[in-house]
Amino acid sequence: MAELQEVQITEEKPLLPGQTPEVAKTHSVETPYGSVTFTVYGTPKPKRPAILTYHDVGLNYKSCFQPLFQFGDMQEIIQNFVRVHVDAPGMEEGAPVFPLGYQYPSLDQLADMIPCILQYLNFSTIIGVGVGAGAYVLSRYALTHPDTVEGLVLINIDPNAKGWMDWAAHKLTGLTSSISEMILGHLFSQEELSGNSELIQKYRNIIAHAPNLDNIELYWNSYNNRRDLNFERGGDITLKCPVMLVVGDQAPHEDAVVECNSKLDPTQTSFLKPGKLTEAFKYFLQGMGYMASSCMTRLSRSRTASLTSAASVDGNRSRSRTLSQSSESGTLPSGPPGHTMEVSC
Ligand code: BEZ
Repeated sequence: MAELQEVQITEEKPLLPGQTPEVAKTHSVETPYGSVTFTVYGTPKPKRPAILTYHDVGLNYKSCFQPLFQFGDMQEIIQNFVRVHVDAPGMEEGAPVFPLGYQYPSLDQLADMIPCILQYLNFSTIIGVGVGAGAYVLSRYALTHPDTVEGLVLINIDPNAKGWMDWAAHKLTGLTSSISEMILGHLFSQEELSGNSELIQKYRNIIAHAPNLDNIELYWNSYNNRRDLNFERGGDITLKCPVMLVVGDQAPHEDAVVECNSKLDPTQTSFLKPGKLTEAFKYFLQGMGYMASSCMTRLSRSRTASLTSAASVDGNRSRSRTLSQSSESGTLPSGPPGHTMEVSC
């Protein structure tokens, strides 16, 4: 495994009084499926896993995760964890376009590149944070390397392979839409797209004019050719670690995430809609024994009863930790199963 390059960047983010700038270091390592680039922020914390992120199609680690990780409320988390942000091959800033005929790795092969990253960094365990295709890659990695994954935050995951109906719809859309419009349809709801907000215009512009649009199309094709993750509740193929599933209201993948929730171990899985993402993340980490409760000043403890009554659709569902911002007091994931936290704002 040869190191290809290392770049050091000092992050330009507003500093709090007494804070020193964090150094971000970009590395590339060679893997059996080609080289992969990742950027490390912060320093390893003894006896703590690294947070490892994997971005969605059409984005890179910065466009996908900067808004979350630079959000003020995330500071308590980032002070406590080293972060490894992986760029899928060809998605890193300044990536050259792959030559014609280049065989882009499948999502399973992208997952198989992760051990090379961890070995290079000498990190033994991670908490994975993935969005869309990245959530799939991290889930696949967790299935094959369960002992190295302490927790997963999966945003907009679709664990199923495309069925023939999806393929037909995909082919039809492909006749009338450009790749960039198809990817926008994956990232945003129809409602958001027709609203054409500044944010949508920004992403439309970034993707349509990306110098590596051909590479993006290859990642998109791998995503569309994904295999079924075949999760089965109570079966052998399931995620063993605590999982926080997140889906946006009317997000294109809402049904897929709901179905995924029904297939995972309810005592290990929390399910929420965003709005309180950073607070939920803090509780998720606290539940794993990694955050002091003093960080959660605006939150108050409650008993599971309030949660189970909010999600009593069926036996399984009522035992899972289903979280929604739409309830008056959005319940949040907590540590030991049997307890939950409630937002009192
Ligand atoms: C981080 O602090 O982990 C981070 C900073 C910029 C972009 C993405 C992540």
